[in-house]
Amino acid sequence: MNITAIIPAAGSGERFGGKKQLKALDRRPLIFHTIQPFINSDLINEVIIVVPQNDVKQVNRDFKSAISSKKIKVVAGGDTRQQSVNNGLKIADKKSKLICVHDGVRPFVTVALIEKVIEASRGHDGAILAQPSSDTIKKVMGDQILETLPRETIWRAQTPQVFSRSALEEAIEIAINDKLEGTDESSILEKIGYQIGFIEGSSLNIKITTKEDWIFAKAIYQELND
Ligand code: CTP
Ligand code: MG
Repeated sequence: MNITAIIPAAGSGERFGGKKQLKALDRRPLIFHTIQPFINSDLINEVIIVVPQNDVKQVNRDFKSAISSKKIKVVAGGDTRQQSVNNGLKIADKKSKLICVHDGVRPFVTVALIEKVIEASRGHDGAILAQPSSDTIKKVMGDQILETLPRETIWRAQTPQVFSRSALEEAIEIAINDKLEGTDESSILEKIGYQIGFIEGSSLNIKITTKEDWIFAKAIYQELND
């Protein structure tokens, strides 16, 4: 079965204070690290990187010279995450019936995690990686605690997230038309009734959101590459 990986990396990094996906980690832009395991997995047939319009040319140049083994396409993103994913979907190989979506700013994903979530998607409309919550989670309003949620039932979503192509296309269309924004794609498929499975990810598979996360990223990178 053909599987396309779509890597949305077209955000502006407001909370980080700049385009974190292009910031250099050990002399290479962050997304370079992110896409390596997708290049290395035999289950992935092509990789589509979605970047800000202004960066398409440069990223194309960087990747064409740095990586040659697998089909890599670079395309411009949109104003919202789902528009960016949609731009990737539009150019995905027609033979791909499964789509694997992964945040451009989660550089520590591994081949094993990618293949594990693909395997977990069998028998569902899709599957995601998630981590059990080790913190106690409170529901709040204003400056007050409303209640404490039962921790056993709380998992933190990660990517990669793998979906049947037709289900993802339907969900993205609904998200865009109904202005139903999701911070991940799974949330939209869940909302329209698709069955999404999950399997445990890794606490190293962090998303770089803020400047503080860059401290963790450098530490993880160093530890893994020592
Ligand atoms: N993303 C995208 N297109 C958008 C918005 C986000 O491709 N219009 C991507 C980001 O580049 C990132 C991933 O979605 O790889 C996760 O998003 P997030 O961490 O929220 O990144 P930003 O949107 O860039 O950051 P912020 O929300 O702080 O502006
Ligand atoms: Mg964002």
